[in-house]
Amino acid sequence: MKIFTTKKETENYFANKGQKITGFVATMGALHQGHISLIKQAQQSTDEVTCSIFVNPTQFTDPKDLEKYPRPIAADIAMLEQAGCDVLFNPPVNEMYDDNEKWHLNLGDLEHLLEGKFRPGHYQGVTQVVYKLFNIVKPDFAFFGQKDYQQVLVVNKMIELLNMPVKLVMCPIERENDGLAMSSRNIHLTPFDRENALILSKALNWAKNNFDSNNIPAIQQQAQQMISSQPGVELEYLEIADGQTLHTATSETKNIVALVAARVGKTRLIDNMLFDW
Ligand code: PAF
Repeated sequence: MKIFTTKKETENYFANKGQKITGFVATMGALHQGHISLIKQAQQSTDEVTCSIFVNPTQFTDPKDLEKYPRPIAADIAMLEQAGCDVLFNPPVNEMYDDNEKWHLNLGDLEHLLEGKFRPGHYQGVTQVVYKLFNIVKPDFAFFGQKDYQQVLVVNKMIELLNMPVKLVMCPIERENDGLAMSSRNIHLTPFDRENALILSKALNWAKNNFDSNNIPAIQQQAQQMISSQPGVELEYLEIADGQTLHTATSETKNIVALVAARVGKTRLIDNMLFDW
């Protein structure tokens, strides 16, 4: 695997990509099987796969969260080598940002709903870095996990607004055997938290299995109740929403997604499930 840490060497490398179809997986490291499944999916449909590892400061609302974000770079490189990833882009912060850089995209409601409400500025930071990464790596296809469903919508919106020549492919959530969605943050869960965290996927499954388009508010409320009554878990939101706009679903909505965020002990987790795709 080629490892680049500067923009220049990465841009130079991709300037000569010829006819190759290139795939890209953007990550913040602390890789797990969820990330590897993105690499695998990228390998199936492209000629060469690049992964980036960059813990992006501009998308963190809480400086403590940024500080404690796991950075096991040696283990990450070993996982990427084993997965057969072709290129790693792993820049330091000063390679990606100049001092006092400004960025703003009009992302509409998507920026302020759900995650946006709890993490103000988060999606400006995400689009800021993904824009830079796309411009450096210039991928034909970018593979993003469904686990960050709202991020998928936001990045797609950016691609559309800025007319970027890349196609986003959304890949399914990878789960542990007991249903917990894989996440880099799971390593912060104590054994007690780990057990309690299962209520997130249980509540989503319950809502999916009991879904009735004429009774959405009651189902949503019941699923919220399941989470709120779990010890050690503090619900931030659980919303049954329109999969395109993330506005609350109605009986007319066709593509439904249920999204949840909760604090489990000291760790904030998100999860979601598609209903009738
Ligand atoms: O999903 C993530 O890990 C990050 O938000 C991303 C897309 C790598 C941007 O920093």
